Amino acid sequence: MPLGNFRNNYLALKVNFARLNQRINTLAEISPIDGGGNCRLALTDEDKYGRDLLVSWMRELDLEVSVDTVGNIIGVWNVGNGAPVMSGSHIDTVRTGGRFDGCYGVLAALEAIQTCQEAKIAPPRPLAVGIFTDEEGSRFAPDMLGSLVYVGGMAVEQALDVVAIDGARLGDELARIGYAGPAPCPGLLPHAFVELHIEQGPMLEANDIRIGAVTSVQGISWQEVTVLGQSNHAGTTPMSLRHDPAYVAAEITVFLRNLAREFGGDQVCTVGKIDLHPNLTNVVPAKATLTLDVRNTDETLLKLAETKIAEFLRQIATSEGVKISTRELSRFEPVIFDDRVIDCVESIAKQQGNTVQRMPSGAGHDAQMLARVCPSGMIFVPSVKGISHNPAEFTHDADLEAGANILLHTMLALTTLESQDQ
Ligand code: GLV
Ligand code: MN
Ligand code: MN
Repeated sequence: MPLGNFRNNYLALKVNFARLNQRINTLAEISPIDGGGNCRLALTDEDKYGRDLLVSWMRELDLEVSVDTVGNIIGVWNVGNGAPVMSGSHIDTVRTGGRFDGCYGVLAALEAIQTCQEAKIAPPRPLAVGIFTDEEGSRFAPDMLGSLVYVGGMAVEQALDVVAIDGARLGDELARIGYAGPAPCPGLLPHAFVELHIEQGPMLEANDIRIGAVTSVQGISWQEVTVLGQSNHAGTTPMSLRHDPAYVAAEITVFLRNLAREFGGDQVCTVGKIDLHPNLTNVVPAKATLTLDVRNTDETLLKLAETKIAEFLRQIATSEGVKISTRELSRFEPVIFDDRVIDCVESIAKQQGNTVQRMPSGAGHDAQMLARVCPSGMIFVPSVKGISHNPAEFTHDADLEAGANILLHTMLALTTLESQDQ
């Protein structure tokens, strides 16, 4: 069991929450947007400034910092022996992001390490913090790209060639901001991985529970749909003669909404981006490009949703006389976390006097990639009103502090997790 004697000597150990909170606020000063959030799209100048800040903090703690070929930053506190227990997340944001998504997990991992250093604890194996490139996938698809490459799920060359929504090539942007590192990817294999994150949904708050012991992450299917029609005059073209991509995009959006309603359960569907060309008041558009984000905890249902969407796209292409093509942006099956890590999070959360509930994650996370190569899990804290990917994203200090203390003790506990291959 992970809760070995080692950690029992330090049960009262707590993070310095004032310092953690200050770092959260300092990082949020980079690329602020109205409403208290951030715009730090992956591999932009803003991302670079955030990375520079984090690297400087890692160096202050004497961590061994490496940057790999897709820009993942790993800071290792080299104590003990063997593979590190790693924690971490991401510091890139969506265009209208909050200050906690990803950043909280990275900074809490750093704080956990600093707390151990100051308490002169000598864990039996190294502790590490990871900052993974382009978790959001907002600028470069797929999401969780850095951690996917880190675990060998995508070739480095393929990742470097990914083209952003603004036309930039990932490899060029990495080099431009000085984060095309020399460290090999796939990278250092952790002994175990645990990620602390805000829930980004409403369940914990609704149930009046402080901590989520995350059991799984739902499957994600992203595709880009391009609709080509007949551009024409808005005033002179009779409705019966139109081949209108804007109308088709709207029908697809409504279809997804109805599909999610019909499936019920965990099914969610989102059209988050629609671009029209030429995007003018008095022109029936020539083209619509839209993205579909479809998720379910059940892979069979997710596949069924994809099949139904494909059928609908064929039907509407015929009935509206437009051409529709699709491109996969991201596709990940649901992920189940390691029972031992889930148990560990749950028991430590209870031990520290918190209410805790086991729950799946609706959002994608780097931990789901690390789960491919080592025992992994996650800790959630409540998001006020369940709001995230929005500058209004907020979590109360007491919840942030509780989560960070559970992370600290989970990292320590996982240092004594027995390897399955031993
Ligand atoms: C990542 O933030 C996601 O879209 O789940
Ligand atoms: Mn996140
Ligand atoms: Mn996010």
